[in-house]
Amino acid sequence: MVNRLIHFAKPIIDDEEYDAVKAVLDSGMLAEGKVSRELEKEFSAYVGTKYATVTSNGTTALSTALDAMGINPGDEVITSPFTFIASANSIAMVGGVPIFVDIDPDTYNIDPSLIEAAITEKTKAIMPVHIFGLLSDMKHIMEIAENHDLMVIEDACQAHGAEFEGKLAGSFGHTAAFSFYATKNMMTGEGGMITTNDEEIMDRALMIKNHGRGKGGGYSHFQIGYNNRMMDIVSALGRVQLKRLPKVTKIRREYAARYNSLFAEYDQIAPQKEPEGYKSSYHVYGPRVISGDKTRDGIISKLKERNIGARTVYALPCHMQDTYLNIQQWRWAKFVAYPDYSALNLPNSELVGNTHFDIPVHPSITEEEMRHIENSIRTILS
Ligand SMILES: Cc1ncc(COP(=O)(O)O)c(C=O)c1O
Repeated sequence: MVNRLIHFAKPIIDDEEYDAVKAVLDSGMLAEGKVSRELEKEFSAYVGTKYATVTSNGTTALSTALDAMGINPGDEVITSPFTFIASANSIAMVGGVPIFVDIDPDTYNIDPSLIEAAITEKTKAIMPVHIFGLLSDMKHIMEIAENHDLMVIEDACQAHGAEFEGKLAGSFGHTAAFSFYATKNMMTGEGGMITTNDEEIMDRALMIKNHGRGKGGGYSHFQIGYNNRMMDIVSALGRVQLKRLPKVTKIRREYAARYNSLFAEYDQIAPQKEPEGYKSSYHVYGPRVISGDKTRDGIISKLKERNIGARTVYALPCHMQDTYLNIQQWRWAKFVAYPDYSALNLPNSELVGNTHFDIPVHPSITEEEMRHIENSIRTILS
């Protein structure tokens, strides 16, 4: 028995993080500046896009990018309901209308074969969410977008380092957004990043995130904007974390492979499917209970009894959250017509929501703890 709690997520904070933050504090230049420019260069080079800019968090990365892509009040944006609510909320924040399309029950990502039926005259964009670090079917989604003249924004908030055929999350769509929230594979506490190859979109995003300031800075302003900037103290953490990301991703994949071979012994559990050519970044390891007499909640409580920080993250898909059931209370509802979200029937999102459980998969887990988790799963499932 391991007596300490094995946390569901645990950020790595090493001497390098302390040194990097201290250097910024010593410089006296705390706000977004030189260090953030360095991080942006390094991040876009890593992802494989021409441009990147930091934002205060993943939500503002999404809303700023949507705004910069020209999403206006009443525009429909197709997205997945099986995600953290910020994906959908970022659409609603700019006045857009989230249109939820069901997921594939094996990959948990938006099912591309259902997207075309959801496209209307009002559709402007698709926001695939690479859930748990597994890339959505971007080949198919980009084809649909091209055929219907739609924009694509990747919600890559959980997908730093995720790959499809060697190409990284954040390099497929017209834009992408990342989160550096404290639990993410690359973290800064709070923080975010937009990536794109489109210079015009990037120029607009730079204005929107910084009070509509022009490139020269100063006190000339050209449009309404926000303060969605990120501090250099935070970017300093990001630079260290980005350097470490390949190692972190490798360990997460090794742990996930161990869980996959363990669950292969049990018919009642199915891991999230990583199709041929895909390499998940395993932000979350979340298999599903598909048969047998063990319930998802029962498994989680038995894991917790053994000091294993297990949980379920999205039991309630976005369209079933009060936020969307009560969308008429949102300020844009005075001007924008929303669908009746309560009438939506998205069975796969509900199924995955009701049956998945999530177990620790991060690099701070020791070998002893990993064995304890594996043995506990065997005991619970046998
Ligand atoms: C899929 C997804 N989208 C958006 C966000 C929002 O990011 P943040 O919490 O940094 O605002 C998150 C973060 O948890 C996320 O997981």
